[in-house]
Amino acid sequence: MSIHDLVADDQPDKFAFSSENEALIKKIIAKYPEGKQASAVMPLLDLAQRQHDNWIPMSAIELIAERLDMAKIRVLEVASFYTMYNLKPVGKYFFQLCGTTPCMLRGSDDLSRCVKDKLNISSGEITPDGKFSILEVECLGACVNAPIVQVNDDFYEDLDYDSMASLIDSFAEDLPPPIGSVKSRSGSQAVTGPTSLTKLTEKQNVVKSSGKLKKEPNSLSEHVRNKVHASG
Ligand code: FES
Repeated sequence: MSIHDLVADDQPDKFAFSSENEALIKKIIAKYPEGKQASAVMPLLDLAQRQHDNWIPMSAIELIAERLDMAKIRVLEVASFYTMYNLKPVGKYFFQLCGTTPCMLRGSDDLSRCVKDKLNISSGEITPDGKFSILEVECLGACVNAPIVQVNDDFYEDLDYDSMASLIDSFAEDLPPPIGSVKSRSGSQAVTGPTSLTKLTEKQNVVKSSGKLKKEPNSLSEHVRNKVHASG
C-alpha cells in the first residue's frame, strides 16, 4: 500500500490545536527530558486525531513536527505505521476488526461477512452517510475473548455473525451497547464460570454487592476522560 492510499485527498488548509489541547500539550511535553520532546509524538497525534473528527490531516502532522522539532516525514512515519492513527476520514462508528489467527480461527471472517451484508462495505471503506467505516487490523491484544471488534475506543468481544448484526443495529440507532463480552463473560473468565481462585471471586462478589467497589466507567472513553480530568 502506498502512502497515497493512506492519506486523504481532501485536506484542510490549516490545523490548530484548541486552547484546551494546547494546555495538555505543555503538560505532555514536560514529562520528557530536555531534548527528548520527540517522545511526545504519539500523544500529540492522538490529541490531533480526537480533536479532528477521528482523523489527522497533513497540516496537523506539519504542526506536530514543528512543535517537537522533528522532520515531517518522521511524524508521518509514526502516524502511518500504527493503525490507531487515521490519515483520512473514518465513520462516526469506526470498526476495527481483528483478523489475526486467534480471531480468524474463532470466526472473524463471519464478522467481515456480516459487515458486508448489512453495510455493504469492506476493509478500508466508509458508508455513503459517513456513519460507519471498517478496517481489518492485526491483533488487538484481547485474543482470549476472540473474535474482537474495536468500535472507536471500545472493545466488543466473543462476537459471532448474529451478535455482530445486533451490534451494528445498535450503533445505527446511536445506542452503543455495553462494552466487553457479548456473552457477559467477566473479563476472560471461562464461559462455565471460574475454575480456580473461586474463594477470591466470592470475596470480590461480596465487596461488589456491598457497594464498596468503585463504579467502573461505562467505556474506555469515559475512563480516559476521568484520567485526564484527574490529572488536570
Ligand atoms: S488475535 Fe484478535 S485480539 Fe488477538
